Amino acid sequence: MEILVQETVDKMSEVAAKVVAKTLNAKPNCVLGLATGSTPLGLYKELVRMHRDEGLDFSQVTTFNLDEYVGLTKDHEQSYHYFMHENLFKHINIPKQNIHIPSGTTENYEAFCSWYENRIVECGGIDLQILGIGSDGHIAFNEPSSSLGSRTRIKTLAKQTIDDNARFFDSAEDVPIYAITMGVGTIMEARKLLMIANGKAKAEAVAAAVEGPVTSMITASALQMHPHALCVLDKDAASSLKMLDYYDWIQAKMVDAP
Ligand code: F6R
Repeated sequence: MEILVQETVDKMSEVAAKVVAKTLNAKPNCVLGLATGSTPLGLYKELVRMHRDEGLDFSQVTTFNLDEYVGLTKDHEQSYHYFMHENLFKHINIPKQNIHIPSGTTENYEAFCSWYENRIVECGGIDLQILGIGSDGHIAFNEPSSSLGSRTRIKTLAKQTIDDNARFFDSAEDVPIYAITMGVGTIMEARKLLMIANGKAKAEAVAAAVEGPVTSMITASALQMHPHALCVLDKDAASSLKMLDYYDWIQAKMVDAP
């Protein structure tokens, strides 16, 4: 895994946006996997800026979001549909029909999950998957003990995730208990993974994911098995990494590398 540590969260977002823009410029019809939550807000802001000021073109891009709360309608302010529309889609030139977000209100979840998986394949697979990390080490809503081979399905959220996400709702009781989420196996099939994390609250989860054993108890640790996983962190999120000096050393030496 490549680890890039940035001084600030803004720098983290800028670097992540450059990675996305590079993918998009190399392949204008690329397929992007998208995440929600607080972590990618700066990244989406920067992509919107690049679209506005530099003409970054999303007209041929297809997207697949990682997850959605079960029971929230598309116009619910805490739904991930709403989040994506407000923070990215309404500001860029992506065609509506190219956007895919798991449905939180389908009548048949099993059929929907299998359609979602097939649709990713039909679109050629995900070129770059953006990921955040939960304080319990989850990616998407693959909570501790999720199979590392799991596919898109319904998951029961962990108590820790409900508590973490209560900040977006009136109270913890209002946080949905179930989510529909891409599986770890689905995520691992993306050609490239870009995990971003900021803040002290993520430091232990990041250290466990990057330097701990590969385990279903920290589903982000599956990234260690991916051939093209990049992790961009701010210095608080990187603060529990044992090999921090080494990652910095690699970055410093990269310019002269053969
Ligand atoms: C959201 C998602 C989650 C979040 C994680 C971190 O689509 O997949 O795994 O990335 O819970 O959330 P924040 O960024 O709010 O700390």
